[in-house]
Amino acid sequence: MNVRTLIVGGLALALGLTTSALALALQGKKGSLEPLDALAKKAQDATFAEECKKAADSLELDPVMHSFKPRAKGGFGIGMKAGLVPANQDGIEAYLPTLSKKGLSAADAGKLADPIIAMCNRVLAIAEVSDHLWPESKESSKSKKKWLDLNEIMKVGAKDLSEAVSTKNYAGVKKAASKLNSSCTDCHSVFRD
Ligand code: HEC
Repeated sequence: MNVRTLIVGGLALALGLTTSALALALQGKKGSLEPLDALAKKAQDATFAEECKKAADSLELDPVMHSFKPRAKGGFGIGMKAGLVPANQDGIEAYLPTLSKKGLSAADAGKLADPIIAMCNRVLAIAEVSDHLWPESKESSKSKKKWLDLNEIMKVGAKDLSEAVSTKNYAGVKKAASKLNSSCTDCHSVFRD
């Protein structure tokens, strides 16, 4: 390759990169919805942990966490389509406080039970993938062990919530939702702020 080809090639590459970065910025931030959703569907499989570990190789923490944002901001919504819950609650992060305050009534369970169980499986996929995405730190308060412990609390919260909904233990729904919700803030107060 001569110098001229190199320069032209380099320029094209630089331009190409700029255009794709621009396209990404214009699209807005997106969660890693497709790979996480595929994993969530296998949350009960024996190979779940192994598959999440493999998938984590090509995922990053920020877009994985961004999946918790509302549907309109590029995150998972509640249910397959918008409209099941009010628009300002149509995301995992936004819906959890409502669920911990109001719980689930037997009357609403018909339309909300399956979407909430699907949400829990998505949380499990996010947590299992996040196990491998520890934001490395030399501070002892931000150790890998602390990260795994906090993630584990998120997993237990999601499993309890799923269990409460599927066994129609509506009193338990409130409790489990609030436990899951505090797992988010507990980790953020250590690793994010
Ligand atoms: C084990 C630790 C941990 C747990 C548990 C956790 N998070 Fe996070 N979260 C983080 C960290 C660290 C960041 C910052 C990531 C970054 O910006 O790179 C973050 C970022 C976020 C963001 C911002 C993403 C963006 O767009 O930049 C949202 C939203 C979020 N988390 C929601 C949640 C919710 C909801 C839960 C609970 C269901 C949760 N998180 C549980 C560690 C955690």
